[in-house]
Amino acid sequence: MARYLVTGGAGYVGSHVVLALRERGDDVVVVDDLRQGHRQAVSPGAELVVADISDRRRLDEVFASWKFDGVLHFAALSLVGESMREPLRYIAENVSNTLWLAEAAVRAGCGRFLMSSTAALFGLPESVPIDEGARLQPLSAYGDSKLMAEKGLDWAERAHGLRTASLRYFNAAGADPQGRLGEDHDPETHLIPLAINAALGLGPALTIFGSDYNTPDGTCIRDYVHVTDLADAHLRVLDRLNAEGGLRYNVGNGQGYSVREVLASIKAVSGREVPCALGARRQGDPAVLVASSAKLQRETGWAPRYDSLDEIVRTAWSWRAAYPQGYRNFSPTVASV
Ligand code: UFG
Repeated sequence: MARYLVTGGAGYVGSHVVLALRERGDDVVVVDDLRQGHRQAVSPGAELVVADISDRRRLDEVFASWKFDGVLHFAALSLVGESMREPLRYIAENVSNTLWLAEAAVRAGCGRFLMSSTAALFGLPESVPIDEGARLQPLSAYGDSKLMAEKGLDWAERAHGLRTASLRYFNAAGADPQGRLGEDHDPETHLIPLAINAALGLGPALTIFGSDYNTPDGTCIRDYVHVTDLADAHLRVLDRLNAEGGLRYNVGNGQGYSVREVLASIKAVSGREVPCALGARRQGDPAVLVASSAKLQRETGWAPRYDSLDEIVRTAWSWRAAYPQGYRNFSPTVASV
């Protein structure tokens, strides 16, 4: 049994990873300021420290109170559009929070550090599927902030021997298949939850951002990876960090689906039509983003279990249909392990 510090463990991906860690018997301390995260999303077996990770004194107290076998770092600003309006805040917060956290981990003698990163590192890719050798050329301040944070971690490895990993997620989607956790952002910007909300009458009609891309149906293609599969990838990479560092992996299903295919899947799964309208392209959207996770599969044995779009959509639909207000009407005992 090990103990992990998880920043952002009350957020979407973080909470699913905390659940997976608890399910295999690990101890978890979550640090989350609950600005984006939800108290009810933290599995009851985990400790929750409500704190802003930029509060370095508080972080030192956390490291003094527990001995950790590793740090998993999810807490970050993560909206591409917002990052273009506030680039300095994005870069300052995401980079400095990551590096001070790594520094605190080094001081506390904690040897493993895993951060969540993004496909936004690759900007407009030269070819797909995108593997780890693809050129890193972020188009957004968000993507650049994650690239800079990864570079900082390279220095933590070199100078201090901290073993680090970074997982570049493509489109995290879906919800815990047992309905214990789901996706609840405010504001929500992601396609699947917005489209489900529209179909359930919980939100406005969906605007399809561009239908004139060079793709078979004219809409953008993305690689939707189930959040429970993502959580499994974290556990595997964490274990691999016992032996070696410098791990950088792309994580996706390896299959692309267009916006229209996502809407058709929601119809197939739920029987409900997604009210939608065609709109203009969203600035900075590449036509196709699909991951190659071959390196992750080869080195950790990971493989997506929820690899069909319908399965991903079904779990997302079930959670939102059960909890139309998200965590606001969610029973806190449901997330127990
Ligand atoms: N889309 C719409 N209408 C909407 C919302 C999205 O048509 O209302 C389309 C987008 O144009 C895109 C696809 O649905 O083609 C998926 O969009 P999301 O906003 O759900 O996801 P992104 O692919 O834009 O973003 C994801 C991650 C980011 C990451 C980015 C890398 O959520 O964190 O991939 O490109 F930075």
